[in-house]
Amino acid sequence: MDRVIRVGLLGCGVVGTGTLQILRDNAASLTRRLGAPIEVRKVVAKDRDKPRHDVVRPEQLSFDPEDVLGDPEVDIVVELAGGLEPAGSWVRRALKADKSVVTANKFLLAEHGHELFGLAEDHGVDLYFEAAVCGGIPVIRVLREALASDSVLALRGIVNGTSNFILTRMQQDGLDYSVALAQAQEAGYAEADPSLDVNGGDASHKLTILATLAFGAKLVPSDVAVEGIEHLTALDMKMAARFGRVVKLLATGRSLPGWDGAPGPLDLRVHPALIPTTSPLASVSGALNAVHIEGERLGPCLLTGYGAGAMPTAMSVVSDLVDVGRNLLTHASGRVPQRAVSSAHLARRAVQAPTAHVGRYYLRFPILDRPGVLARIVGVLGAFDVPIEHMLQESRTPGSKEPVQVVVLTHAARDGNIRSTISEVQRLSGIAAPPVAIRLEEA
Ligand code: HSE
Repeated sequence: MDRVIRVGLLGCGVVGTGTLQILRDNAASLTRRLGAPIEVRKVVAKDRDKPRHDVVRPEQLSFDPEDVLGDPEVDIVVELAGGLEPAGSWVRRALKADKSVVTANKFLLAEHGHELFGLAEDHGVDLYFEAAVCGGIPVIRVLREALASDSVLALRGIVNGTSNFILTRMQQDGLDYSVALAQAQEAGYAEADPSLDVNGGDASHKLTILATLAFGAKLVPSDVAVEGIEHLTALDMKMAARFGRVVKLLATGRSLPGWDGAPGPLDLRVHPALIPTTSPLASVSGALNAVHIEGERLGPCLLTGYGAGAMPTAMSVVSDLVDVGRNLLTHASGRVPQRAVSSAHLARRAVQAPTAHVGRYYLRFPILDRPGVLARIVGVLGAFDVPIEHMLQESRTPGSKEPVQVVVLTHAARDGNIRSTISEVQRLSGIAAPPVAIRLEEA
């Protein structure tokens, strides 16, 4: 065997170190599968003072990206730095130099995917990204290759490990939001910008990528209506349990029917939701992720596994290296369209306005326990056409001046009407604190 696949790593954090470990520990089986050994020429790190795992050999370590990007021997650039810049410039430069790229950078692909995949196509190289969505779950391969003969009607998932870890710890162990967040970050699940994990941004980047592949649509992150988990409280978790539900951050993509059988707009949303404890997604705990796909011919299909963490994510990076390496050895780079269809076949699809969505809600109104307050709330709900399915008012502790909670579960109502209800109720007298609205989904 005379061919070697030469790789340069940009980024040497949790996933970069995991990638080196798998490449070292599984070298023999990877060579057998690929048909050539993988050689890591350089590993470019950011922080000179950070202690390194012994898998990072001193002669490989560099702090200059030029050692990878300017090396004509490097076949595949592995970008694991995250964020938009300088990662974006590095990926552009690699593709323009006819090098294939493997990346875990969903932010970059969601924001600049059209440009970058176009560059890869123009240069006849691969841009692979299995690790960018749901860590170790091979969902990109499933959408790109396994479902080539089907049409995806809908997908719904838990696609951010950090927020799922936080919600699980809050629900199961009663931890405070900030304690659970610190634990998730310590475990290495967080993004380069950790606010993206809790404000729904990371999940919306992943949904943009998944929906592009699932629906063959040309999408950008602003097509997704996004709400994070920062405002969720232990009280709402307890209330959810009273109704046989748990709170999850869901990413949903649906192809809505149009007129005369034509495809209608896409419904793309990331938001917390109360789902029944009997739902398959309810038992997806901690850093686990899951994606439920509804295929027209396949029917339902649930993929689940670790969506964050060193080994699951690095496993996907290395599997991509094997695929891209095979393409290099057989001169078949670009054989499989990286986003299921080539850029020329991605079509712009209309997206449903968030206020037009019709769904059920959990509404919580903290009120002063005085006559007439409840009646006024019910009046506002009626005025905005929000039908009540269930209503409960907590009893007041004798002598307490604390507000009491009124919880309403609604039947289906328009999102716009729910928003109007909330702002109108807020103006009523006897309302002790801002009302809370969380979607109810059957997931
Ligand atoms: N920050 C991401 C998460 C890492 O928590 O899911 C994996 O994409």
